[in-house]
Amino acid sequence: MAEQRIHIFDTTLRDGEQVPGCKLNMDQKIEIALRLEELGVDIIEAGFPISSPGDFQSVEAIAKAVRHATVCGLSRAVEKDIETAAAALKYAARPRIHTGIGTSDMHIKFKLKSTEDKILERAVAAVKLAKSFVEDVEFYAEDAGRTNNEYLARVLEAVIKAGATVLNIPDTTGYCLPEQYGAKIRYLKENVKGIDKAILSTHCHNDLGLATANSIAGVQNGARQIECTINGIGERAGNTSLEEVVMIMRQHPDLNFVNNIQTQKIYKTSRLVSESMGMPVQPNKAIVGANAFAHSSGIHQDGVIKKRETYEIINPLDVGVDTSKIVLTARSGRAAVAYRAKNIGVNLTKEELDRVYADFLKVADSKKEVDDQDLNQIITKQEIAIPSS
Ligand code: KIV
Ligand code: ZN
Repeated sequence: MAEQRIHIFDTTLRDGEQVPGCKLNMDQKIEIALRLEELGVDIIEAGFPISSPGDFQSVEAIAKAVRHATVCGLSRAVEKDIETAAAALKYAARPRIHTGIGTSDMHIKFKLKSTEDKILERAVAAVKLAKSFVEDVEFYAEDAGRTNNEYLARVLEAVIKAGATVLNIPDTTGYCLPEQYGAKIRYLKENVKGIDKAILSTHCHNDLGLATANSIAGVQNGARQIECTINGIGERAGNTSLEEVVMIMRQHPDLNFVNNIQTQKIYKTSRLVSESMGMPVQPNKAIVGANAFAHSSGIHQDGVIKKRETYEIINPLDVGVDTSKIVLTARSGRAAVAYRAKNIGVNLTKEELDRVYADFLKVADSKKEVDDQDLNQIITKQEIAIPSS
């Protein structure tokens, strides 16, 4: 099968910034947008311009600053929203308006208090209006994950006719199983007339921890754009994390998906987003967590010291992390202690290692982690010389 190019749509500055306490100022948003462009994302969703004057100004400033990536602004299927998004994107080299409306029974009946036919009309009118401002119009069918497939197909067919270039199929509530989400994308690919004129996009939330799996199921079934955020931040349990989908595509070349992301810049971008938003990354987060390349049990450490690939499927350098970490804890073995001693300049003989290790275990039992300073003291206590560095 020929390689399929997957477009990476980053919504850190929109869905990600909706997280309570993650508010960014304009300079921070511009800095992140430029870093995302450097990282190689294809589309940057810069904000929701109607939501506040500050957001409008940020989208406008990002539209001016970013020259290669597409800059996208969100709107509801509401005239004023679309006009405001168009105005904020006026200076963009590649502007995209992202407009849409809820399509599930739940949204139509209880949120929008409307009918299927009226919602379809609003969707078409919104896309037509957006199209009068920009060529590139993305339509989102909010809560598509819980929308009946036949109705969803009817709406998509109509918005393609109205000029939509990208069709976003959000699993807004993170409800779908990977098979269900994949089957939905396949159904749309096979049943929507004119589907070849548009790109299907995944937008998955992580309420059941399935956002990444669902996004991959989506592209395996015909989607060609993934919407995601750095560190997986976003509403509630978050969105699909960029670093996860990108590294899945890289580690599984058999999937035949390619993208434009320069993976060595992932870690730096993750740190920037986490620090700017004051949103710590959980230590066991895949790819970018503090423990993603740390080994603490004796069996694993022994393997990694002999050959890194025994317990690591990703080379840390590929995501911009300098090195794997051998962490010394009470679960560590002799190999790890010898390795860390060597790192501070001491090549222990077998007999020296036995003595150091016995002492090490006592210290390790009283501490969560034994650091270089502790190790230095243990070795010194055994009267083993440490070369001065
Ligand atoms: O989750 C969602 O449905 C969204 C849309 C506004 C695209 O974020
Ligand atoms: Zn979302």
